[in-house]
Amino acid sequence: MTPELVLSILPLFYLLSSSFAQEQNESITTSATTESFHPWSYAPICTEHFEALGGPLCVYTNATFANGRGISIFTTPSISESFAAQLPFHDDNVLAEHGINDPRGEEARPWYVTDLPGKGKGVLAKHELHRGDRIKAYTPYILVYMEGELTVDEREKWVKIGISQLPEASREHFFSLATIWNEEGYEVQDVIKANGFEMQVGGVMHIAVFPETSRLNHACGPNAQYFLEPGLLTHFVHASRDIAPDEEITVSYAPPLRFHETRQRYLKDHFHFTCDCSRCQSGEASDHALHQIDALQSSLGNWTPESTASVKKAEELIRLYKQQGLEGFLDTAYGYAALTYNAVGSVRGAKKYAKLAAQSAALKFGPSHKDVAVWKELEKNPQGHVSWMRRKANRL
Ligand SMILES: *[C@@H]1O[C@H](CO)[C@@H](O)[C@H](O)[C@H]1NC(C)=O
Ligand SMILES: *[C@@H]1O[C@H](CO)[C@@H](O)[C@H](O)[C@H]1NC(C)=O
Repeated sequence: MTPELVLSILPLFYLLSSSFAQEQNESITTSATTESFHPWSYAPICTEHFEALGGPLCVYTNATFANGRGISIFTTPSISESFAAQLPFHDDNVLAEHGINDPRGEEARPWYVTDLPGKGKGVLAKHELHRGDRIKAYTPYILVYMEGELTVDEREKWVKIGISQLPEASREHFFSLATIWNEEGYEVQDVIKANGFEMQVGGVMHIAVFPETSRLNHACGPNAQYFLEPGLLTHFVHASRDIAPDEEITVSYAPPLRFHETRQRYLKDHFHFTCDCSRCQSGEASDHALHQIDALQSSLGNWTPESTASVKKAEELIRLYKQQGLEGFLDTAYGYAALTYNAVGSVRGAKKYAKLAAQSAALKFGPSHKDVAVWKELEKNPQGHVSWMRRKANRL
C-alpha cells in the first residue's frame, strides 16, 4: 500500500459517512435533542463518580422552561429524574394558571424594590396586604446539590456551566443580584451564597436561587413566610400578618425559635451581617419570651396524668408567638391549642384552633404538606382524634 492510496481512502470514507448522516439527519436530530435528553435542552454534563453520592453530579438545563425563563439543576441523575417528572416540564400552562412568574406582568406585583438607608435594597408593599395574601411565586434559575465532594474551584466550573446555559436575560438578572465575597473567579457561587434558599429535594438539601425573592431582607419576627411547592418547582411567599402600604416585607433567614446569640451567630456565619431587627435589638427580652414559650410547650406536650397543661396556657402560648412577631410559625401554637381544647372535651375550641393550625401550616409548609391534612382531620372529627377527652381530669 502506497502512502498516496492511504490519503485517498480517508477522504472517501469521510464523505461516505457524512452523506450517510445527512440521509439520516431527521432521525438523528430528533433522537438527540428530544428523546434522549427530554426535558433538557442539552446533553447533561457530569462529574466523576462520587462514592459518597452513589454516582456523579450533572448539570441539567432546560433553556425554554417557564416561557423562556430557563432553569439549571446541578444534581444526581436520579434526582434529576424526579425533577423531570414534575408537571411544569410537561404542561406549559400550569405555572401561569397558578399565577407563577408574573403571568399578569410586573405591574400586577404587590411589591416593589427600593434602596433602604443603611440596608441596601429591600422589598416594600405596593398596597395593603393581609395575612395569607400571596406576595411572590417564582421558579428558580438554578438549584445546586449541597455536597462536600468538590473543591470551591471545581464547583465553580460546574455551576458556571449551569448559568451559562440559561437564556441571556436570566443570566443577566442572576449576575445583578447581591454578592458577599466579591472575589474574582467565584462569581456564580458568590451570588448563590448571598441569595440562595436551602431546601430539601429528593431527600437531599439543595440551594436554590429565586432572583425576585432574594431581595427580601431578614427579620427575626418577619411579616412574611415562604415555602417550596416541589410539584410546581415554585417558591411561594405569603403575608404572615397584615402589612401596610410601603412597609418593608421581611422573611426569617435564621431559625426564629433559637436564642438570640445562636441566631446572631447563624446570620453572621451564613450571611455575613449583624442582625438589628427589633427582636435582635431586644435580645434579652426575646430570649425571656423564648424560655416562656419553651416551658409552655413542654407543659402542653406532656400527656401524663401529672401534666399541668390547660387551655389558659395554650392561649398564653399563642399570645407570646404574636408578641414576638412569630405569626408565620403559629401552626405550632394553634396546634397545641387545638389538642388542649380537644383533650378537655371542647369541640368548639378544638375546631376553631385546628382550622387556624391548618391555615398556618399551609402558610409555612404549603397546602399539600401532611400537617395541613392532620389539622383538617382534627377539625372535621374532634371526637375521633386520639386527644379527645385525654385530660378529662383537667376539665374546666
Ligand atoms: C435534513 O434536514 C433538513 C433541514 O432540517 C431537511 O430539510 C431535510 O429534508 C432533511 N433530510 C433528510 C434526508 O431527512
Ligand atoms: C423544557 O420545558 C418546557 C416546559 O416549560 C417543555 O415544554 C419543553 O419541552 C422542555 N424542553 C425540552 C428540550 O425538553
